[in-house]
Amino acid sequence: MAPVSDHIFPISDRLKQRDAREKLLNQHGIVLWMTGLSGSGKSTIAQHLEAKLYDAGFKTMVLDGDNVRAGLNADLTFAAEDRKENIRRIAEVAKLFANNGLVTLCSFISPTLAMREQAAGIIGDDFNEIYVAASLDVCEDRDVKGLYKKARSGEIPTFTGVSAPYEEPQNPALRVESGKQSLDECVDALYNFILPRITYTDA
Ligand code: ADX
Repeated sequence: MAPVSDHIFPISDRLKQRDAREKLLNQHGIVLWMTGLSGSGKSTIAQHLEAKLYDAGFKTMVLDGDNVRAGLNADLTFAAEDRKENIRRIAEVAKLFANNGLVTLCSFISPTLAMREQAAGIIGDDFNEIYVAASLDVCEDRDVKGLYKKARSGEIPTFTGVSAPYEEPQNPALRVESGKQSLDECVDALYNFILPRITYTDA
């Protein structure tokens, strides 16, 4: 096996048992990568979707920007390079979970096409881009965390949608209109999308 660098020799999955793990869990691993503006509802949708999946007996992991940035990525800022690193690390973690058969729900602004392409490249076939679409006006009106107000006053620099870019997904696997549809409608759309993909089949 070729080393990644001169002194690093990752072990391969000796068990080579994703199939066996999925059989044990009675589900297929997947990553739902939810992207959208701050306040678009990504985290709320992910929480409700997780509850619905739990009730149906699926094993899940939720990775969420605010939570991950309080721990694993506490060293990262919102400068472009740090956001890129934020997304790179999350994608690597999400890949580990999906390879272990878990239904992995990621909610990160992940504002640029390039960042999401990077995540897709790391995660591979398990990656499913979900666009949680709500206009800046809607998100700013909600301003659940009071961050847009702070961004407008200049207290928070490089705030997505205000003083930093958000590039809409060009061809997401699914788009939910969280500014127009109800929470239940968004959760149901995601659940219906994911169910055939995670329901265990031997094939
Ligand atoms: S990302 O751009 O690097 O993908 P991430 O999803 O991890 O962002 O974190 C976004 C959350 O951090 C937002 O929902 C918001 O609560 C908070 N936040 C703090 N500062 C900023 C900022 N400058 N831009 C966007 N979100 C911010």
